[in-house]
Amino acid sequence: MSGQLDGVFAERRARFARQMGANAVAIIASGGEKLRNRDVDYPFRPDSDFFYLCGFPEPDAIAVIITGSSKQKPKFVMFCRPRDPERETWDGRRAGPDGAKTRYGADEAHGIDTLDRHMPDFLSNKRTVYYSWGRDDHFDARLNSWRAAVARKARSGTAAPQEMVAPESILHEMRLFKDAGEVATMRRAAQISAAAHRRAMEACTPGKMEYEIEAELLYEFTRHGSRAPAYGPIVGGGANGCILHYRENDAPLNDGELLLIDAGAELHGYASDITRTFPVNGRFSKEQRTIYDIVLAAQKAAIVAVKPGAHWNAPHDAAVRVLTKGLVDIGLLKGDPAKLIKDETYKKFYMHRTGHWLGMDVHDVGEYKLDGKWRPLKPGMVLTVEPGLYIPAHSKGVAKKWWNIGIRIEDDVLVTRSGRDVLSKDAPKEPDEIEALMRRAA
Ligand code: GLY
Ligand code: MN
Ligand code: MN
Repeated sequence: MSGQLDGVFAERRARFARQMGANAVAIIASGGEKLRNRDVDYPFRPDSDFFYLCGFPEPDAIAVIITGSSKQKPKFVMFCRPRDPERETWDGRRAGPDGAKTRYGADEAHGIDTLDRHMPDFLSNKRTVYYSWGRDDHFDARLNSWRAAVARKARSGTAAPQEMVAPESILHEMRLFKDAGEVATMRRAAQISAAAHRRAMEACTPGKMEYEIEAELLYEFTRHGSRAPAYGPIVGGGANGCILHYRENDAPLNDGELLLIDAGAELHGYASDITRTFPVNGRFSKEQRTIYDIVLAAQKAAIVAVKPGAHWNAPHDAAVRVLTKGLVDIGLLKGDPAKLIKDETYKKFYMHRTGHWLGMDVHDVGEYKLDGKWRPLKPGMVLTVEPGLYIPAHSKGVAKKWWNIGIRIEDDVLVTRSGRDVLSKDAPKEPDEIEALMRRAA
């Protein structure tokens, strides 16, 4: 999880501290390791807010940012695991407090085991604590005890903080707007994922298992330096393509069916999120192609709707219009498209929304509405555009020829000053291009 310059993190902390205001303390935790099963932990990945501010990759670390009067420079204190030659022989290297100072720019650093000793001092005579209450009962209780310890000193003239504010209110708005370095990382993550989707198309043949295709994706991610997918890959053939969060990935891929793959690499802490759908045997059937063309037209209309000043929901509205009209044209919905949209009848085949913010988290942070209204898109925001249509077997009133067609097409889109930039454009989505690629590979 490295790859950005220390200066980037220092600048972010300074911006965060300015918005915290004077005489405040922010406490941001990296999170700890989680047991998977006896003696085995899940791979550790730091909390995104913590990593955004520090770039520090270890578990059991707490960043404390302290502001004084408006003229004083804010202080960055890191609590982290102390150096320990024996533990490091077993579990790997640690930066330790000295490393936190020299390599990660901390003004002051201590062992994580000294938190109780230091925190009451840091909280003394501060007005506001920025802390994400309710995520960790044990830590909440410790914070309470530190505050109580400060309050007990009231008669000696020491004041305890009076106000608790969620740091997300500042940090998530900062994270919503990606700087040039973040955009470059996200572009690279999307390029790696696009190469993986191409590889999956080339590798796919009837009779293979879904997990064999998953293996191709993971191989391509890893060999380009992505150490984990941004979320569990979805590799769903046929009927499984109609299950939105299908994760088993253990069924055979059958001739004549579609394969829906939703998979994205994480790179240096940033997500990509791409979906492509293609025929297992390399040739779309007539019905598959009909539905595919509707989804692709909807996706293109939604992408064009991404531009500065357009509101958040404009791409969704555009996609729903094209999907609903398409479903009426082929007889899967009957009636006036405007009414079918108003009554949300289209949700029978399109039950999710058209996108979400994308960044360090795949469903990234940031408000979608401001003052109750969809917020306008602005340069630097990144969102997904991912319409789909899903027609499971035995859908009521739907002819059998349409059954088990599940199609989603998903791209990662950066809002630019002049419009948009599709970061994931290297993943083929034109049906003729997909068929040609699969023919060449056969
Ligand atoms: N891969 C999760 C999503 O598309 O939202
Ligand atoms: Mn998505
Ligand atoms: Mn996705």
